[in-house]
Amino acid sequence: MCGIVGAIAQRPVADILLEGLRRLEYRGYDSAGLAVLSEQGELKRLRCLGKVAALANSLAGSSLPGTLGIAHTRWATHGEPSERNAHPHICRERCALVHNGIIENHESLRAQQQAAGHRFTSQTDTEVVVHAIHDALERGLDLTDAVRACVKQLHGAYALGVIDRQDPEHLVAARLGSPLVIGIGFQEHFIASDVPALLPVTNRFIFLEDGDLAELTRSSVRIWNASGQEVERPVRTSSMSVDATERGPYRHFMQKEIFEQPRAIAETLEGRLGADHVLAAAFGTQAEALFAQTRSVTIIACGTSFHAGLVAKHWIESLAGIHCQVEVASEYRYRQHVVPEQSLFVSISQSGETADTLAALQMAKQSGYLATLAICNVAESSLVRESELQLLTRAGPEIGVASTKAFTTQLAALLLLALALGHQRRLSPEREAHAVEILRTLPAQIERALSIDEAVADLAQHFVEKHHTLFLGRGEQHAIAMEGALKLKEISYIHAEAYPAGELKHGPLALIDEDMPVVAVAPNNALLEKLKSNLEEVRARGGQLYVFADDSVAWQQAEGVHVLRLPESDDLIDPLVFSIPMQLLAYHVAALKGTDVDQPRNLAKSVTVE
Ligand code: G6P
Repeated sequence: MCGIVGAIAQRPVADILLEGLRRLEYRGYDSAGLAVLSEQGELKRLRCLGKVAALANSLAGSSLPGTLGIAHTRWATHGEPSERNAHPHICRERCALVHNGIIENHESLRAQQQAAGHRFTSQTDTEVVVHAIHDALERGLDLTDAVRACVKQLHGAYALGVIDRQDPEHLVAARLGSPLVIGIGFQEHFIASDVPALLPVTNRFIFLEDGDLAELTRSSVRIWNASGQEVERPVRTSSMSVDATERGPYRHFMQKEIFEQPRAIAETLEGRLGADHVLAAAFGTQAEALFAQTRSVTIIACGTSFHAGLVAKHWIESLAGIHCQVEVASEYRYRQHVVPEQSLFVSISQSGETADTLAALQMAKQSGYLATLAICNVAESSLVRESELQLLTRAGPEIGVASTKAFTTQLAALLLLALALGHQRRLSPEREAHAVEILRTLPAQIERALSIDEAVADLAQHFVEKHHTLFLGRGEQHAIAMEGALKLKEISYIHAEAYPAGELKHGPLALIDEDMPVVAVAPNNALLEKLKSNLEEVRARGGQLYVFADDSVAWQQAEGVHVLRLPESDDLIDPLVFSIPMQLLAYHVAALKGTDVDQPRNLAKSVTVE
C-alpha cells in the first residue's frame, strides 16, 4: 500500500528519500516518485512506473540537490498505475504533495476545482488535495494553515506530506486513518509511513494520532490534535535494528522470515508462561478480571490473520468451552450483528493498520462488547492503541508480502488466549500444565519441522506447470489448508482452493484428474481416519496426492501418492507445525517459477484503504 517519506534537513535529502522508499517497498506498490525543493527555489520532481530501482536509475542521471523533499510509492486505487498518476502531485509549480489513503469526496471537490479553473493532470483522488492546498496558500495562508484548512474539506482517509516552493523552512504532515510517523534527528526531521523507512537516519520517533497535524522545521516539531489544540506527543526510541530489515544470506525475505519462526515464536511466548499456566496479565492489567466474565468471543481479521482466527475458534471452544465466532472484517463492518452477552471482541492484524479491521474495531467499541483485545505485531499501531487489551506478537518486521512468521506468532498468541480463557473456565489444572509444557517445546518443534525444507523443494517441481491446486484438511487443519492455498496463489499465481475434506464429494471431486494436485494436511489426530477415506476418493479418480503427515503414522506406498513426513508433535500445536510445509511449498514453487516472491503483483503488505 502507498508509502510516504519526507525530510527537512541540513544535507541533501534525495538519497535519504530513496532509501526510505526502498525500505517501504514491502508494503506493495506500482509506481514511485519524489520531489525536492532545489537551492534555486524550484520544485524538482521525478516519477516513474515500476520499481524504486528505476526511480534511482533516472535520478542517477540528474542532480537533485535540496534539503527539503517528499517521496512516495503508490499502490493504485483511483486511476491506473502510470507515471502521471504517481505522486508527488504538484499544483501550478507552487506546492507538492504525497498522500496515502482515499479521499471519498474527491469527485465533488474535483468538479468545484475544475469550475474554478484548475486543470487536472492525473486520474487520482489525491490531486484535489494539492489544488485545495494551493488555493489556500494563494489566499495568503501559510503552509500549516493551508493544510489545516484543506483537511477540513476532506472525507476519507489520509496521511499527507506537503511542501511549498515559497517556504523552504517547513514540511507539513497530517494523518487520519492512514499511518504516519515523525523521525527526530539532530537539526533535521523526517516523516514516513513506518519506522523501518527511517532507521538509517534515526531511532527516535513520534507516532502521530488520528486527526493530528504536524509542522516540521529543521529544529522543531509542532503538533495539533483533531480539535486544533497544540499537543506534545511522546518521543519513543525504537529498538528495531537496521539489520532487522536486511535480507542477509537468504534469496528472499519470505525465505528468511520462514526460517526466523523458531525465534519469533520463542520471543512471543517469552515472559507469558508461568510454571503451569499462562499469565493473563500479559494481555493487560484488567485482563484476568475481564476473562473471568467472558462468555463468548468474536474474532475479526483479514487475510492470513483471518485464518489464524479460524484456528483460534477450535482452541477457544475446546480448551475454554466458550462459543467463538470468526468473521472477515470487511463483511462484519457492513452488516447488522447481534453482540452476545459478555462477549470479548478480538481483532487480529500483523500491521495493526488494516482499514477494514480498524473500522470493525471502531464499530465494536460502540456495540456493547465486554472489552476489545488486539493481537498485533506493531506496538505503536492504531489497532493496539485503540484496543483496551493487547497482546503483541514479537515476530519483528515482516517484509515479504505473504505473511509467514506473523501468522505463526499470531497462532502462538491465540493459543495463549485460549489457555488464559480456559483457566477461568473448564480447563483442568493438569491439562493446563500439560499445555504449557507443550508450548515450551514449540520453538524446537518448529525448528524440526523446518528440516523438511529440501524435501519440499524437490516436491515443488511437481507444481510448477500446474494451473490449479486443491488443499484439504479437517478440523483446525482446514484453516491451515486455507492458509496453504492462500500462500500458493499469492506468490506463485497458481489458482488454489481449500476445502474441508468432508466436503469433497459435494462438489470439488468433479475437478479431480491428473492435472489437479491435491495437497492434504494430515497430522495424526482423531480425524485422520476420516481424512484418509476422503483421500481414497481422490486416488480412486486418478488424482495426484501430496500428503503432509506425521512421522508416527504408516502410509502405504501407492502410485500417485507422495507422502512427506514431519516430526511427530502434539495435537495442540499441530496447526503451527503443519503451517511450515504450507509456507515452504508456496515459497519453492514461486521461486522455481521466478515470480516476485516478496512483492507479488497487485498485492500490498499493509492494506490501509478499504
Ligand atoms: C494483506 C497482507 C496479508 C495480511 C492481510 C491482513 O493482504 O498482504 O499478509 O494477512 O493484509 O493484514 P493485517 O495486517 O491486518 O494482518
